[in-house]
Amino acid sequence: MRDDGVSAEGLLAWYDGHARALPWRVPPRSGLRADPYRVWLSEVMLQQTTVAAVKDYFARFTTRWPTVDDLAAAADGDVMAEWAGLGYYARARNLLACARAVVARHGGVFPSDLAGLRALPGIGPYTAAAVAAIAFGRSEVVVDGNVERVMARVFAVDTPLPAAKPALTALAAGLTPDQRAGDYAQAVMDLGATICTPRNPACGICPWLTGCAARQQGIAASLPRKAPKVEKPTRAGTVWLARREDGALLLERRPDRGLLGGTLGFPGDAWDGAAGLAPLVSDWAAAGEVRHTFTHFHLILSVQTAQVSQNATATRGEFLGRNLFSPQDLPTLMRKAHDLAFG
Ligand code: ADE
Repeated sequence: MRDDGVSAEGLLAWYDGHARALPWRVPPRSGLRADPYRVWLSEVMLQQTTVAAVKDYFARFTTRWPTVDDLAAAADGDVMAEWAGLGYYARARNLLACARAVVARHGGVFPSDLAGLRALPGIGPYTAAAVAAIAFGRSEVVVDGNVERVMARVFAVDTPLPAAKPALTALAAGLTPDQRAGDYAQAVMDLGATICTPRNPACGICPWLTGCAARQQGIAASLPRKAPKVEKPTRAGTVWLARREDGALLLERRPDRGLLGGTLGFPGDAWDGAAGLAPLVSDWAAAGEVRHTFTHFHLILSVQTAQVSQNATATRGEFLGRNLFSPQDLPTLMRKAHDLAFG
């Protein structure tokens, strides 16, 4: 073990006693192997999302589709509906494409090496390294936002992100052990999530306290530095919620590509400020507006509602009764519009 207080061994010893119990994990030193399907599913869900937000989704997915074969055989719309609310819907489409590729190309067995994993749809460098390390024990360098923060602090890297990424990855690689690489990767993530947190890090109880350069310089909480954020623009749009006499709602599925791709929602305009055309002629009434923030812009959506007759026909979408869809199947933006109009 290195004597500067920062070593994989030191962190693994901490992890042995402090690992979070998570539904896709096996306890350290249990001799158990994590299920690659569960590891992969959790890693895809955890991108851009917190452990707390993912837990219920993970439980529902693995109850409904316990194996990759089950998921591969699922209907697209069922997977999109279960994913509703997690955001970044391209991940759900890629998830299904990946499950189907694992079944079609690999007989339902996940490849265990980086190259085999990278060749699958939707698996980027992070997910490939995480699955190879956590599910297969390979010594791969796993770098997410938690790991970047921990490395920036331990080595007092004050180059702002994203320029610092290559340096932080190299530092992470230097610490990654040959043995227990999966436990190590999860240990750094747990450290970042529970002790080396973005604000108010709990340095007093950190297993790497004595070797942490940022702590010694008193700058831990200010790292990693980030390039100034560009202000997000605000876009405006309209969405039309038509309810038939029998309670059925006019819904349409978006094309697979683009924002909210593949999700079910209410017909809307292009969110470009230009007046769009309602999907049917009716006495539309403004119910108010909903706000939602996407990665690159804020959106203010004007919600228009109409009660329409049983024989109404629309130029877009189709009427779906409550037996065919639930508001819970909608992405958060459309759920907000639904709840404003009918909630
Ligand atoms: N965040 C992303 N993947 C994680 C994992 N395997 N454990 C803890 N936090 C994570």
